[in-house]
Amino acid sequence: MLDVTLVPCLSDNYAYLLRDPATGECAVVDPSEAEPVLAALAAMQLRPTMVLNTHHHHDHVGGNEALAAAFPGLRVIAHASDQGRVPAQTGAVADGDRVALGGTSLRVLHVPGHTLGAVTYASDDAAFTGDTLFLGGCGRLFEGDAAMMYASLQRIAEALDPATRVFCGHEYTANNLRFIAALEPDNAAVRDALADAERLRADDRPTVPKSLRDELRLNPFLRCDDPAVEAAVGVSGDPVAVFAALRARRNNW
Ligand SMILES: [Fe+2]
Repeated sequence: MLDVTLVPCLSDNYAYLLRDPATGECAVVDPSEAEPVLAALAAMQLRPTMVLNTHHHHDHVGGNEALAAAFPGLRVIAHASDQGRVPAQTGAVADGDRVALGGTSLRVLHVPGHTLGAVTYASDDAAFTGDTLFLGGCGRLFEGDAAMMYASLQRIAEALDPATRVFCGHEYTANNLRFIAALEPDNAAVRDALADAERLRADDRPTVPKSLRDELRLNPFLRCDDPAVEAAVGVSGDPVAVFAALRARRNNW
């Protein structure tokens, strides 16, 4: 199993330290800022060989340059279309590429919508979804449209094993679940998940990760063909139209 350490950054971001269990090779996903990431690496006596960026937004790449300076030879990987937008980028990936971290193979899924160059990195048992798939939600459509984001979320849902642990870019889970609970007041599974998330947050503990299986059951953006979600937004028959209505509701919530 890929070893993953959460590093809280800024107000509600997570960077992740990945360690391949066979070789100990280490990578950093989305260093929002350098300081907490460098502190976590030092505490664990890890020296990363690469940074994996899910997209170009500053709260995901803000620590790239300081990490590149601290670790000469560090590879900084992001989607090919993000070259020029990701600081210190050295490598470009495209959909279907594989990135090796020691004995762990990470698959690249190009998932445009939040941004046009958004990618998800996925091993056999962990996926780093950035601001595309959140627990209980999805990212805003800054550069893509509803059809594009819907297709990207479906791609993640279909490409990954349901047991995959989902590590997303932000701690938004409790608020996302409050939105779903308002949308579907009769959904007991959502109420239970909200209570769990609120308990964790009250103890200042992360809600991340959760399994893709849980997301398929709870996250309405992955259930745009579910009659309960269709009824809640008052649109049916076209999952992209349901998705667009749901995203608009969430934006205005
Ligand atoms: Fe973002």
